[in-house]
Amino acid sequence: MASCSTGRALAVAMTLCSVLLLAAAAGNFYQDVDITWGDGRGKILGDGQLLTLSLDRSSGSGFQSKNQYLYGRFDMQIKLVPGNSAGTVATFYLSSQGSQHDEIDFEFLGNATGEPYTVHTNVYSQGKGGREQQFRMWFDPTKDFHTYSVLWNPAHIVFYVDGTAIREFRNREAMGVAFPRTQAMRVYASMWDAEEWATQGGRVRTDWSQAPFTASYRGFAAAGCAPPSSSSSQAACAAPGSPWMDQELDGAAQDRLRQVQRDYMIYNYCADTYRFPQGLPPECSASK
Ligand SMILES: *[C@@H]1O[C@H](CO)[C@@H](O)[C@H](O)[C@H]1NC(C)=O
Repeated sequence: MASCSTGRALAVAMTLCSVLLLAAAAGNFYQDVDITWGDGRGKILGDGQLLTLSLDRSSGSGFQSKNQYLYGRFDMQIKLVPGNSAGTVATFYLSSQGSQHDEIDFEFLGNATGEPYTVHTNVYSQGKGGREQQFRMWFDPTKDFHTYSVLWNPAHIVFYVDGTAIREFRNREAMGVAFPRTQAMRVYASMWDAEEWATQGGRVRTDWSQAPFTASYRGFAAAGCAPPSSSSSQAACAAPGSPWMDQELDGAAQDRLRQVQRDYMIYNYCADTYRFPQGLPPECSASK
């Protein structure tokens, strides 16, 4: 699979890769995604570089990537809802299908005007999630676009903000912890109302007089292994030779990650002994 290098033209990639369809999205939403729900509340603007998702009292909206991926690196620039966004959630995530699904989540929990957004992350493997870590950002995510990225390869899943790793979920299959490894995932984004969940158990209600609530997306880039169908060889997809497949965090990135976790993490399931009185999940005790 060494010839499967990142290329922009699908046709070229397809001739290079006999088994795989290598997708390297150039950031054109018309080509890369389908708006799947929201009855016009999701809009691709201009030449396809910008996409907005809105939420009002009747509905939210969402889109999904046309391709599915087994491993890859996924970037999205997002500008979150300005002003009073309490009760709203904007998302950018990867997910496979079915009850035993895998999922890698970025979810952005809105807040009252001037109060900070929460950046919520989670990893599901084979239907099991419950691995939340939440962060504040070191900037106002409603003022400008910032890049949120997921790296997913056989060794780990890394969440990045503007290129800084904020979370690493390592493959701990050796400890009996399932890791997303066999099911292809699509990229999804949505804007929805979750006041029950997002705002301290519903204490802060969504102010519908401020609707529609709109989040903006641009710069979608997916460099990954995209099986042309679910029946195609997944082992082939896992073949090395693509930059994202063996990308690791170097020492400086590890230091930065620890610093961000110390300064900006506001919830860590691995520190929630109240929630896990029988003992923390096994991956929590693993050191790198
Ligand atoms: C909203 O802001 C308050 C005050 O800073 C904070 O305690 C709360 O966690 C925030 N809510 C969310 C959903 O981020």
